[in-house]
Amino acid sequence: MRQTALISTVMVMILLGGWLMIGAPAPWSPVGGERESAAVGPETLALGEAVYSQNCAACHGDDREGQENWRERGEDGKLPAPPLDGSGHTWHHPDDELLAIIEQGIEPFAPEGYRSDMKGFGGRLSEAEMRAVLAYLKAEWPEDKRQRQAEINARARE
Ligand code: HEC
Repeated sequence: MRQTALISTVMVMILLGGWLMIGAPAPWSPVGGERESAAVGPETLALGEAVYSQNCAACHGDDREGQENWRERGEDGKLPAPPLDGSGHTWHHPDDELLAIIEQGIEPFAPEGYRSDMKGFGGRLSEAEMRAVLAYLKAEWPEDKRQRQAEINARARE
């Protein structure tokens, strides 16, 4: 009997929690399409920002502006870090590709022998942290870039 009561309390809490998550007006800016915005809350964006400043800002810049002359290879033959603020071409990639780059770095997706400073964070960040940092980056993009990337995402899912 007591167990049934406990189970129903838990059920009510889950239902109420779900209702609050879906029903509450979103104070944050939507990321991508309707479907994605439902999953991204302020905690995720705060986590993403923290992950960014601790792991990415050193190369991609405090304001996600990238390194100078990011389109030109340095003397070591490697490309500098591009901006992640929506001014570069990051938004040309669907989420799955961006997550794969964050997780595995650039080299696995480049021709044999390509060297890049963008190493994967797979062993250092959890999947939730990698998703959160991507959500944070996207939330800061200008609306038109977000819209176009959402279309690229939709096409990639087809
Ligand atoms: C040691 C420097 C360095 C750090 C730290 C770093 N990056 Fe990068 N990142 C790069 C460089 C350099 C490139 C471009 C590499 C290339 O194209 O060869 C890049 C490319 C990328 C790209 C592809 C961008 C595009 O427009 O195609 C994404 C996404 C990215 N980084 C995300 C991140 C995230 C998220 C973090 C933190 C979790 C991070 N990076 C940390 C150097 C770094």
